[in-house]
Amino acid sequence: GLKKKEVHVLCLGLDNSGKTTIINKLKPSNAQTQDIVPTIGFSIEKFKTSSLSFTVFDMSGQGRYRNLWEHYYKEGQAIIFVIDSSDKLRMVVAKEELDTLLNHPDEREYYNENSSLGFNSMGYFKCLHGNDSLVKFKGRFSSLLDIKHRRLPILFFANKMDLRDAISSVKVSQLLSLENIKDKPWHICASDALKGEGLQEGVDWLQDQMQ
Ligand code: GTP
Ligand code: MG
Repeated sequence: GLKKKEVHVLCLGLDNSGKTTIINKLKPSNAQTQDIVPTIGFSIEKFKTSSLSFTVFDMSGQGRYRNLWEHYYKEGQAIIFVIDSSDKLRMVVAKEELDTLLNHPDEREYYNENSSLGFNSMGYFKCLHGNDSLVKFKGRFSSLLDIKHRRLPILFFANKMDLRDAISSVKVSQLLSLENIKDKPWHICASDALKGEGLQEGVDWLQDQMQ
């Protein structure tokens, strides 16, 4: 049959927001796991929609791993950002992480077509060029790679809507000042990842953005 277009997506958000639960629910039922544990570092997951084949970097949201996120920004063609709508105390932390992401300057290496990917001891992607030397160009190609200058669609899930003290997706959107994001297409969906509610709407939007 027709080969689906492959897209790479980063799944970000604070620990315990439901990222892994959401990604798991998007897989076919026979590929879903029953017990979900906090992600260590990150995990690479795959799922398909009607026209796309998604590879997701499901990042850990724990404080000690959040500095890993930026090493993967260049891998993503879109972002799924998950918020625990019942975690009012940490909404401001989620906003800080989002703002950091949106203002991230590029200091990544530039990878050219002849390069291949490898890993260093930290598990970061590294780019090997020719005989093992890191690509020469560094940090001078911001408009190509950084979040700020790329048209990255961002899908927000205001997750855990089933919980009694969850706030509405409109309220989440206000607390995160999403109306200030003018240079990227974004969309917010209320979701209940345990039941899978709201996920399809979000992924349909993302698919439309990435055709
Ligand atoms: P890290 O990997 O640590 O960054 O966390 P995560 O964002 O991947 O969260 P994870 O998917 O591990 O879910 C954390 C907890 O929230 C688990 O106990 C989930 O069962 C629960 N959870 C996820 N989504 C929902 C939801 O929509 N509603 C409720 N009530 N619980 C949820
Ligand atoms: Mg996780």
